[in-house]
Amino acid sequence: MNKPKILVARAIFPETIARLEQHFDVEHNQADTPWSKQQLAQKLADKVGAFTTGSERIDAEVLEAAPQLRICANMAVGYNNFDVDAMTARGVLATNAPDVLTETTADFGFALLMATARRITESEHYLRAGKWDRWSYDMFAGSDIHGSTLGILGMGRIGQVIARRGAHGFGMNVIYHNRSRLAPDLEAACKARYVDKEELLRTADHLVLVLPYSPSSHHTIGARELSLMKPTANLVNIARGGIVDDAALAEALRAGTIAAAGLDVFEGEPRLNPALLTVPNVVLTPHIASATMPTRLAMADLAADNLIGFLVNGKPLTALNPQVLKK
Ligand code: GLV
Repeated sequence: MNKPKILVARAIFPETIARLEQHFDVEHNQADTPWSKQQLAQKLADKVGAFTTGSERIDAEVLEAAPQLRICANMAVGYNNFDVDAMTARGVLATNAPDVLTETTADFGFALLMATARRITESEHYLRAGKWDRWSYDMFAGSDIHGSTLGILGMGRIGQVIARRGAHGFGMNVIYHNRSRLAPDLEAACKARYVDKEELLRTADHLVLVLPYSPSSHHTIGARELSLMKPTANLVNIARGGIVDDAALAEALRAGTIAAAGLDVFEGEPRLNPALLTVPNVVLTPHIASATMPTRLAMADLAADNLIGFLVNGKPLTALNPQVLKK
C-alpha cells in the first residue's frame, strides 16, 4: 500500500526523518536548501502533511496550491507563521510544540537577563579588543538581579517558570501583566503579583517579554512604552520579533531612555535593524532560546508525533484548531 506523502521543510534530526519514514513517503530537505514560497507551495501540491519549523509561512496562497494537505505540524511553540483561520477554513489541522521547551527557554531568558544586566558581552568585547589595561571602580558596573523587581509581560507556561526562577532562585520581587490573571494558587506558586501594563513598565527593573505574536501584539513595546520604563531598566525579548518596535528600541538604548536590552528575536529576522548593531548596551542572540539538543529533539519528536498521531491514528497531540477534527 502507498504510504501518505509528507514534506519536511527544513533539515532536522536524521532519527526524526527515519521515524517518519516508517509511516510516510517523506520528501525532506536535509540539505536545508532555502525554498521560496512558490517552491514550498509546489512541493506541498501532492502532500497530505507538512513538518514545518516556524520559518515557513502557511497561508491561503500556499493552501490553495496544496489541495490534499490535512495537517501542518510546527516544530515551535509559536505559530505566527501559520494563518490558522485560513487553515481552519480549508480543514487543515495546525499543531505546535508546547511544553517540551518551557524550562529550556526560561533558562535562556534568565541567561539573557543576566548577560544584559551584568554587561557580559559588552565587557567581553572590550577585553577581546585588548582594551583592558587596569581596574577601575565603575568598570562595566551593571544592575543587580537579586532583590530587584522582575516584570513579566505574558504569563503563559514560559512566563510562569521564569517567575519561579526569579522569585525562588534570586529573591526577586515578581510582577506580571497578562491578558488574564492567573488563578490564585498559580500566582502563589510563582510568587507573582498581577499589575496593569503601565505599572509593569514603570516599576520593573528587568522586563521580560514572553507573549505570543499576533497582529494585536505588534509593537506592544514602542517609544511610548519605553519612555515609561526606568532609565536603569533592562528589557529582554525572548518572545517574537515585531512585539518590540526595534527602531524605537535602538533609539531608546542610544538615548539612555532605558539602560540595556537582551534580544533573541527581531523584526524581519534573520535580518535585523542595523541600528541595533551600533549601540553597545544590547546583547543579541540569533533566536536560540530553545536551542539545546535534548529540547530540540523533543520538539522534533512532538511535531512527528502530531503527524503520526493525526494521519495514522486520527489523534494529534497538540491541535491549535481542534474544530477541524470535528468536521
Ligand atoms: C521558538 O521561538 C518557538 O516558538 O518554539
